[in-house]
Amino acid sequence: MNEVMRPLSEPVHLQADAVSASILLVDDEQSNLTLLQRSLEPCGYARLVSAADPRTVFSLCLAHRFDLLILDLNMPHMTGFQVMRQLREINPENLPLILVVTAQHDQDYRIRALREGAADFVTKPFQLDELLARVSNLVQARLSQKNMLVQNQLLEAGVRERTEELFRSRQLIRELAAHRENIREEERARMAREIHDEFGQYLTALRMDTALLNIKFGADNPALKQHLANMKQTIDTTIGVVRNLATALRPGVLDMGLVSAAEWLLAGFEERTGIPYRLHAPHEELLLDNERATAAFRILQEALTNITRYAQAGEVDVVIQSAEGELLMEVRDDGVGFDPGLVREGKTFGLLGIRERALMFGGESKIDSEPGAGTTLSVRIPLPGRNAL
Ligand SMILES: Nc1ncnc2c1ncn2[C@@H]1O[C@H](COP(=O)(O)OP(=O)(O)OP(=O)(O)O)[C@@H](O)[C@H]1O
Ligand SMILES: [Mg+2]
Repeated sequence: MNEVMRPLSEPVHLQADAVSASILLVDDEQSNLTLLQRSLEPCGYARLVSAADPRTVFSLCLAHRFDLLILDLNMPHMTGFQVMRQLREINPENLPLILVVTAQHDQDYRIRALREGAADFVTKPFQLDELLARVSNLVQARLSQKNMLVQNQLLEAGVRERTEELFRSRQLIRELAAHRENIREEERARMAREIHDEFGQYLTALRMDTALLNIKFGADNPALKQHLANMKQTIDTTIGVVRNLATALRPGVLDMGLVSAAEWLLAGFEERTGIPYRLHAPHEELLLDNERATAAFRILQEALTNITRYAQAGEVDVVIQSAEGELLMEVRDDGVGFDPGLVREGKTFGLLGIRERALMFGGESKIDSEPGAGTTLSVRIPLPGRNAL
């Protein structure tokens, strides 16, 4: 035995949980192992495993989760350095802290041990109280490290759970918004129909009545004739207002298909703003269900509203096509452009609504714009299979 034990000067105080630490003692000299064991046991360390053959360390460390490895450096078959190198293959979270015990007093040698993964070292012959103090420090450090790992895992699990919850509730809000949007569109269509048909019918009846009155009594009564002419004028204006109202709710042209509706919308846009447009779309109407046609129409409507309000554009290009099972729509203007990164989510709803409408069908929208470079909105909406139409 090459250790000389010195008397213990001061007792080492351990925290209660430190003694639960499991420690692997590795030394080719059985007498050294016995000495280490006898030194540690009285301090309460009860979970001690000894290994005289360094070649068994790797599998022992895989099988048990040791907190501390007290490792001799000079051993036959494998040096302590080789053991440390081998251990690095183990997941660092399961790696025990390593206390190297060496008879070498050479400083470079000890620095090398620290560099190769040792957390601390003691030189033989060691003082018992120094050994115990270092073991105690390392065990405490390892326990706090383990504690932190557990806290981290708990935190990560909590964050994961919250993220999933957030995702679920976002999904739910999205579905709710889509549902409400569908109901709103149905409601608009119903109201547009009723306004158009019912009001239209009554107003037309009134108009015919004024015409009849005029035929019957107008010739003999010029004042009445004038009144009836005024009434007819008012009725015609009202019929126009009613038509516009119904169209604003849901343009009837949408029943003819998206391309026709886009043509109609763009013509009105050009008339109001003086900005010319070009529409690149197939001559034949697209085979499109009502929901997708309405969504694409509303998207185009919002894009044109934005162009009217902000773009100061010279012209507008719209592309509508269907390719590879998708409806593609692009609205490009050559206006002032903007930085999409600066649009504050939750403050404006136009672009958000465009994105959500595309998402409702599993599609997406993209804005390409920068100040001075115009704006391009691209929307992609997957089409259902032909049978679903
Ligand atoms: N074609 C465009 N050219 C220039 N700027 C645009 C264009 N489209 C959008 N923007 C800019 O992006 C911002 C966000 O647009 P968005 O449609 O989301 O909101 P908004 O039009 O301001 O308000 P809302 O649509 O909710 O009434 C606009 O305020 C505008 O600054
Ligand atoms: Mg807008």
